[in-house]
Amino acid sequence: MASHQFFATDIHQESLTSTHGWLELNDDLEAFALSLAEEDTAGIRWCEKNGYDGYTSYSSLDDLTRRASCFEELHQLLQPRIVRIALLHQWELRSSKIVLDNMWVNVLEPGGAHTGHVHPHCILSGTYYVSTPPDCSAIRFEDPRLQMMMAAPALRQDCDPERRRFVSFEPAAGDLLVWESWLRHEVPTNRARDVRISISFNFRLD
Ligand code: NI
Repeated sequence: MASHQFFATDIHQESLTSTHGWLELNDDLEAFALSLAEEDTAGIRWCEKNGYDGYTSYSSLDDLTRRASCFEELHQLLQPRIVRIALLHQWELRSSKIVLDNMWVNVLEPGGAHTGHVHPHCILSGTYYVSTPPDCSAIRFEDPRLQMMMAAPALRQDCDPERRRFVSFEPAAGDLLVWESWLRHEVPTNRARDVRISISFNFRLD
């Protein structure tokens, strides 16, 4: 009997560490992220109010690529990759372009986590990892059909990766992950002794 597999769900991964000037770029991103975490009072207030353990610029700043050249440099690295991913997904884009909607910094404290969520109003989302101390959080994705599996049997511990209902990536500094914005994901508790720094982004059609 033939078994066909349909309904692909992609998670794209690439290390940018071999990119020319990567270390300097990563250092600049780290320094700028940490300075925002000290100085962005609106963002700091939002994090306190919303129980975010650490700092995110998600709700307070929408102009990172104009604030510092390192963010624009990251954007320039992302853009061609995003276009290649759109081709791989075989999307019919007609005259639409894929543009950066927003980019934001996450400085996750030890003990902090980020519960399951999707990224509305966008088509591709992702995260670039700046600083990943030992034992820092992975990122965990869940099967988008999970809510339909009321009677589905549990899976064997040793089941194939593509059949798993949860998939975790343990990122290293320089790693880039990109997925479709509707794919639910979470960041489990950060068990590192130091902050985990990442930069997330959304791309939309224009
Ligand atoms: Ni997210």
